[in-house]
Amino acid sequence: MIAIARERRSRPNLEYRVADLFEVDDEGFDLVYSHTVLHHPPDYRAGLEQLKSLVRPGGTVALIDNVCDFYPTPPRRVYTWGAIRGFPAEIRRVGLRHAWFELRFWHSKPWLEHLLSDRYLSRAQFREIYDTVFPGAEYDDLGFALAMRWKDERGG
Ligand SMILES: C[S@@+](CC[C@H](N)C(=O)[O-])C[C@H]1O[C@@H](n2cnc3c(N)ncnc32)[C@H](O)[C@@H]1O
Repeated sequence: MIAIARERRSRPNLEYRVADLFEVDDEGFDLVYSHTVLHHPPDYRAGLEQLKSLVRPGGTVALIDNVCDFYPTPPRRVYTWGAIRGFPAEIRRVGLRHAWFELRFWHSKPWLEHLLSDRYLSRAQFREIYDTVFPGAEYDDLGFALAMRWKDERGG
């Protein structure tokens, strides 16, 4: 994905880097954004603190991460049946060839193993942990995920 981005979305003022979240030690970013990454590191709160440390005074942190109120790890059938249910709509959206590829992908062992190793917060847990690290944050519910927006009020 990064190779594609470098090829198709190259800009003189844009640098793509691949790094572990905890190895990034620059600071002073106007915007720190993360999408469906934060459930991966073993210490959830440490991930939030790390991202918070990267924003400049007056900057914004915008974070999206998966949530699930029923169980930390949705069972296999949620993905496999979900893909089957969504198949007709996917055919209409991307055509039969790509929809078939997607359907097989959703049923593939490596992808299911990956999904079944995920641990999601419930909405309540999400709000609690984010509120402690980002007091006064605003939230949106995206269905599969919660989104949080927080402005660093130190000035700037
Ligand atoms: C569900 S994918 C989301 C990818 C992308 N943000 C998106 O929305 O399409 C989760 C991503 O988190 C990355 N990831 C997991 N642990 C990480 C860490 N400690 N530092 C940086 N990235 C991490 C994985 O490499 C993977 O690309």
